[in-house]
Amino acid sequence: MQFMAAPLEDNSDSAFRSICHTYGADLTFTEMTHVIGLAKGNMGTLSKIEMLDDTPTVIQLAANKEMSLKKFLSKYQPPKQFKGINFNMGCPAPKVLNIGLGCALMKRIALTKKLVAIVKDYGYPCSLKIRLGMNKFEKEKKVYLNLIDAVDADYFIVHARYGTQTYAEPADFSIYPECVALGKTIIANGDIHTSEQVALLRDMGVQGVMIGRAAVHDPSIFNKLKGLPVPSVEKIKEEYVALAEKFNSRFKYRDNILKRIGTHAKLSGHVMG
Ligand SMILES: Cc1cc2nc3c(=O)[nH]c(=O)nc-3n(C[C@H](O)[C@H](O)[C@H](O)COP(=O)(O)O)c2cc1C
Repeated sequence: MQFMAAPLEDNSDSAFRSICHTYGADLTFTEMTHVIGLAKGNMGTLSKIEMLDDTPTVIQLAANKEMSLKKFLSKYQPPKQFKGINFNMGCPAPKVLNIGLGCALMKRIALTKKLVAIVKDYGYPCSLKIRLGMNKFEKEKKVYLNLIDAVDADYFIVHARYGTQTYAEPADFSIYPECVALGKTIIANGDIHTSEQVALLRDMGVQGVMIGRAAVHDPSIFNKLKGLPVPSVEKIKEEYVALAEKFNSRFKYRDNILKRIGTHAKLSGHVMG
């Protein structure tokens, strides 16, 4: 089972990714970054994909323009800890949907295939992070299965909610067996925080779990779920602060993490259908 730290806007900088990796995250992700800004060489955008230590990191892109993707990749010099490109196809924020990104991409299978092929031409691993569709209707129509079946990505991170669902509604883990049955590598995401959930997902054939909010409250959750020892919350907090200093984390990022570390994560849990 692979343990992954989720991309989280205004949280997932080098310091957060590093502390998650120290405590068991096998793979970490940058927050969603617009490929157009990267292609233009915008310094603020480029800072979001900086990798300041050797934490294995995947760059998550918001992309729907082949030319921008090609331009960015032609200039990108990957460090050794770079572990590939992930396309965000699950963000349900109106400002993202309105420009044809995030969840709006889930039915654009031909475009997705082209984007994945461009990344693979560079020899980089390529994955998709998806939801179950934009709304309940699309979930029922199994838009997520069509996409997983059609696209030749290395793995698919499936957040088990549809776009219009809020975090107040539980994630629906019953969708995983049919995803796994397609013969693709499936990573589960949404409300995962217990070893019972990890065991359930493993039994379904899921090959990894991605953890977001629960990792902000407790960056050592990965080791806990692996059954490995972890230090006290105070020690983890101290280590995070030292990393945030070392890597010059922005105030907003530090604040988002420090106000949550050591507090209880309010998650909705999961349902089975
Ligand atoms: C503050 C915040 C920021 C997020 N930013 C991103 C992002 O940049 N890219 C992305 O794919 N998902 C983003 N997400 C969604 C998470 O990666 C994850 O899919 C979701 O929180 C469900 O996982 P969890 O229950 O483990 O938190 C964000 C979620 C939160 C709460």
